[in-house]
Amino acid sequence: MDDFITVFVTDLEGTRHEIQAPTDMGLNLMEAMKANGLPVKATCGGMAMCATCNVCVESDHELPEMSESEEDMLDEAFVLDIDGSRLSCQIPVSQKIDGLEVKLGKLTDPTE
Ligand code: FES
Repeated sequence: MDDFITVFVTDLEGTRHEIQAPTDMGLNLMEAMKANGLPVKATCGGMAMCATCNVCVESDHELPEMSESEEDMLDEAFVLDIDGSRLSCQIPVSQKIDGLEVKLGKLTDPTE
């Protein structure tokens, strides 16, 4: 199935989930994780304004460059220096991220 990709997400308890996401719906990774039932707070709804969709990228995929607003937000949330830290709402679901491995950041916890 060319229109779907697989992403591996490790949640805050350390459980690894394999999720599928369609590439033809204009989704971002945060939306794909939520659609697959993963607990991601994402307070601002994908506007790069809250950092509660933060993930740590653990595979070698080439991702789109960080925008200034993404960089500022991660910096403000004190997570920028965690290797591979990104806002999942700023990563478009496309073939480029097929097989991506990410870990949810602490800020994503909806119970906090
Ligand atoms: S959902 Fe708020 S920064 Fe991504």
